[in-house]
Amino acid sequence: MTTRKRLIVLTGAGISAESGIRTFRDMGGLWEEYDVMEVASIDGWKKNPQLVLEFYNQRRRQLPTVEPNEAHKALADAQNLFNVFVITQNVDNLHERAGSKNVLHLHGELTKARPTGNPNRIIDIGYNDINWGDTLDGYQLRPHIVWFGEEVPMMNEAIKLVQTAEIFAVIGTSLNVYPAAGLLDYAPKGCPIYLIDPNDINIWRRDVTVIKEKASVGVPKFIEMIKNE
Ligand code: APR
Repeated sequence: MTTRKRLIVLTGAGISAESGIRTFRDMGGLWEEYDVMEVASIDGWKKNPQLVLEFYNQRRRQLPTVEPNEAHKALADAQNLFNVFVITQNVDNLHERAGSKNVLHLHGELTKARPTGNPNRIIDIGYNDINWGDTLDGYQLRPHIVWFGEEVPMMNEAIKLVQTAEIFAVIGTSLNVYPAAGLLDYAPKGCPIYLIDPNDINIWRRDVTVIKEKASVGVPKFIEMIKNE
């Protein structure tokens, strides 16, 4: 009985694009319509918290209306053959709803909230809105989301995971945002690296196998490829 290989994947907005959740920086991305610093930064929160709450309420309300796609499902099914760990920049719950068990959300989760005064008091809010005046322990509730200008608390745990990879894949991310994008550098020497994206991603490493497909096609193809590796 051979032990299952450790497959570590880093996913971004592109893996949820075909589920109908908008990406940020490519065609029709969210940051074409919203000023990221107004709705997704700690300064934006201080300036106009109601605007920030409404931005995340809108995105949270969309969650129950969308479904995991073939890419999320292929990663969940791969758990039968590999020890799969998903590190995602996404704040949706599609990996979990597809059946992935080990999901690390680098940038937080739409279905969670916390009081502004206590970062560790994280509560499940499902698909409910957070409104100004909703408090916990006497503090205003805020989305459990990592905003620009804030630390990424799960980064060290993510780095440790990538350092144990026997296969590493990057799926549906423009690799524009650090520190997440820097995870690539922690893949062990000799660990095969794959990148799945329909567009050209300027990646400085030559030792990456690029699968230039949309995720719903590219991820099942990728799993087929590594099955026979
Ligand atoms: N399948 C796979 N990849 C796709 C698809 C698709 N169907 N459609 C688009 N993509 C790719 C794009 O080519 C791009 O490389 O997904 C990537 C999306 O990039 P971004 O919009 O920058 O999203 P992401 O990389 O996840 O952003 C990182 O930035 O705004 C912050 O916190 C936010 O987590 C987010 C972070």
